[in-house]
Amino acid sequence: MSADHPDHAFDSAKYRQVLGHFPTGVTVVTAMTDDGPAGMAIGSFSSVSLDPPLVLFCPQKTSGSWTRIKGSGNFCVNILAEDQEDVSRVFASKSDDKFAEIGWKHSGNGAPRITGVLAHIDCEIHDVLDGGDHDIVVGRVTALDVDHEGGPLIFFRGGYGRVTL
Ligand SMILES: Cc1cc2nc3c(=O)[nH]c(=O)nc-3n(C[C@H](O)[C@H](O)[C@H](O)COP(=O)(O)O)c2cc1C
Repeated sequence: MSADHPDHAFDSAKYRQVLGHFPTGVTVVTAMTDDGPAGMAIGSFSSVSLDPPLVLFCPQKTSGSWTRIKGSGNFCVNILAEDQEDVSRVFASKSDDKFAEIGWKHSGNGAPRITGVLAHIDCEIHDVLDGGDHDIVVGRVTALDVDHEGGPLIFFRGGYGRVTL
């Protein structure tokens, strides 16, 4: 399948290139597990529903961090500030100890709330839907707050940027 030529093999490089033109904010989705904190950088976060309050994110099915978050049953969405590119890089890595150099405290549901984020959203896992090589995780919001006002970290065409208003 191809967007231009339905008979040809799907061009994954073109998929990445085109979808990279859609800018996203950057979040780190965290959870507390029996063997310590887990977390991964997530750009696929979105609000879904106000009543009931639902949000979603889409982790790769093979992600070790997602497997651990899923096992915990709840998570915290940390919305990164424009000065947290280094935090995003840590949580996009495959490191065994992503929290080694990261300041955090327990959020209301026990998941790590990272120091310096713009806002946090505590959730319990409401549903996990099939999304191809990713899962679509629907979270029910249990608590949320703005931590400080400021600009968000942006991801666009494979690089980091800031909002200029
Ligand atoms: C800006 C940004 C956004 C990302 N968004 C996602 C995402 O929405 N879903 C996903 O599965 N991976 C996403 N990733 C990649 C994961 O963070 C990365 O594969 C994961 O942390 C790997 O660690 P793990 O092996 O411990 O799961 C993103 C990476 C970056 C830099």
